[in-house]
Amino acid sequence: MPNEGSFEAALRRSNEIQADLAVHPENYTMLTGDRPTGRLHMGHYFGTLVERVRLQNLGIKTNVIIADYQVITDRDTTEHIADNVYNMVIDYLACGLDPAKTMIFTHSAVPALNQLMLPFLSLVSESELKRNPTVKAEQEASGHALTGLLLTYPVHQACDILFCKGNIVPVGRDQLPHIEQTRNIARRFNERYGKVFPTVDGLLTSTPLIPGLDGRKMSKSYGNAVSLSMTAEETAKLIKKSKTDSERNITFDPDNRPEVSALLTTASICSGRDPEELANEIGMGGGGELKRVVTEAVNGYFEPIRERRRELEQDMDYIKDILHEGNARANEIANQTLNEVREAMGMVY
Ligand code: TRP
Repeated sequence: MPNEGSFEAALRRSNEIQADLAVHPENYTMLTGDRPTGRLHMGHYFGTLVERVRLQNLGIKTNVIIADYQVITDRDTTEHIADNVYNMVIDYLACGLDPAKTMIFTHSAVPALNQLMLPFLSLVSESELKRNPTVKAEQEASGHALTGLLLTYPVHQACDILFCKGNIVPVGRDQLPHIEQTRNIARRFNERYGKVFPTVDGLLTSTPLIPGLDGRKMSKSYGNAVSLSMTAEETAKLIKKSKTDSERNITFDPDNRPEVSALLTTASICSGRDPEELANEIGMGGGGELKRVVTEAVNGYFEPIRERRRELEQDMDYIKDILHEGNARANEIANQTLNEVREAMGMVY
């Protein structure tokens, strides 16, 4: 976590950019992405997908990477990877990403992006790599040995951002160290070899973190996440299984009643209604009524997205075409940037 001062600075910069986005969309290129380790869930949706669609529709250049090489930073297998990648494209489109406006692509299909890793690695020190707090946390959570790829993945993310000259990256506060790393790499490259890369800023998202159904962080591995790809029945079942507490009267009290309050927050986000008001209405209806309200709100909100998802699933050729087109376009951009890098470095023979 960067210190308070640098957080304040990043927040100020982020607010300035937010205000300028609609005025000068042509000045911005966004890059963000996801690891294809499973299906996207409500946390992804409200935490970032809505924001991506908003930026796309403002006319900003929007790029979304399906980070397949990041899957093996802390796993020993690429099982189900193709299935996960295609389903991620389906999730994106169902949520409103428009392939005519947003470039969707994968790491592994864009060699020139990956090649940026070599000059970029020469611009960072071992101690910088080792002190990245996210890397440490991920390694501990995975229970896996620290691989060279996990250690260096923030540099790889710099390649993701910089190959397309991205200058804004929507992030949560915990991701700011990655942005800092990318800024350093771009600055050092430009100082050493001449200006090729832009200055990158994090676009801090203002959406409150949506809790998992049990009040913990929403994560597929905790079984507390509603995926976009679930059916209404599966959603109802998952919500029904979630824990409440022994007090019948439903109140919104995140500190003392995390599970009940997480369910109220979920219903609130999906229905646009105040969580306290929902709690008052449910009152002595208890956990059963609470779960009914949450299920109705979630299924109601996601029904059109799921409907679109089901349609897209029927046309896998179309989904593959979208990815092939995105990959082809990403290759053009990456080759162009790599040529600029070679020129700046005097490596044109
Ligand atoms: N690490 C991100 C995730 O796990 C995905 C990602 C890959 C990314 N490259 C990126 C995000 C570059 C922002 C910028 O979801």
